[in-house]
Amino acid sequence: MTIPRRVLVTGAGSGIGAACVDRFLQAGHSVIAVDLAAGSMAGRTGELEALCEIDVTDAAAVRAVPGIEKVDIVVQSAGTVGPNVPVTDVAPADWERTFAINVTGIFNVLQAVIPGMVARGWGRIVNIASIAGKEGNPNLSAYSASKGAVIALTKSVAKELATTGVLVHSVAPAVIATPMNADTAPEVLDYMVSKIPMNRTGQPEEVAALVGWLASEECTFSTGSCHDISGGRATY
Ligand SMILES: NC(=O)c1ccc[n+]([C@@H]2O[C@H](COP(=O)([O-])OP(=O)(O)OC[C@H]3O[C@@H](n4cnc5c(N)ncnc54)[C@H](O)[C@@H]3O)[C@@H](O)[C@H]2O)c1
Repeated sequence: MTIPRRVLVTGAGSGIGAACVDRFLQAGHSVIAVDLAAGSMAGRTGELEALCEIDVTDAAAVRAVPGIEKVDIVVQSAGTVGPNVPVTDVAPADWERTFAINVTGIFNVLQAVIPGMVARGWGRIVNIASIAGKEGNPNLSAYSASKGAVIALTKSVAKELATTGVLVHSVAPAVIATPMNADTAPEVLDYMVSKIPMNRTGQPEEVAALVGWLASEECTFSTGSCHDISGGRATY
């Protein structure tokens, strides 16, 4: 039986985050949706506990999300692909913005939610990393480095919290069919798919299914791990 929980999803307006919102609502949980822009959540406010249009890089705005201190489950899907150029051409401001969203955004939410979870003795945190953080994608140095940081941050915090009842995971998707890839050149997409043994892109619902299990009561003896969802590309 699923115990109803209060869930916070960042990046909820699109792609993987939106698929996670759907899954948690279907399971009977109450969901706080956080995104820079409402996106696909715009017409669904009636189904949500709250829809907060904030930038996760703004720590004060994150702390001010109504009910954030009471959330039991957090999925951090807000992210940006950042500059897609050789490392020598990356503008410092683009490097910093990529880290601000993909890493500091996650840090800001962790600081806001962990004390309440620890006090209640139960919590599940799932941070969306990327295959790029394990393997490094060419011309995506800021993105790859930031996702490597998400994987390491997750491991560190998981060990800090290992005896508290709060479990922390990351997941590493390969290419998933979401708006993030809408502008990716077809030949780049073909190259990325060619590296996937299942020879296809993943669907956001497939990522949400893994996230849903990691966030559930059934997941009890696993924390800190980076869970693969790459169609066989990364078997470690
Ligand atoms: N799509 C893929 O192929 C893929 C693969 C591996 C990892 N990922 C990761 O999965 C996560 C979700 O990606 P997606 O494909 O669903 O992308 P998406 O672009 O469809 O959705 C990302 C959402 O994050 C929001 N967002 C961006 N910056 C934000 C900020 N500063 N504050 C609040 N919200 C912000 C956007 O508005 C958007 O709604 C990202 O972290 C991404 O890096 C995606």
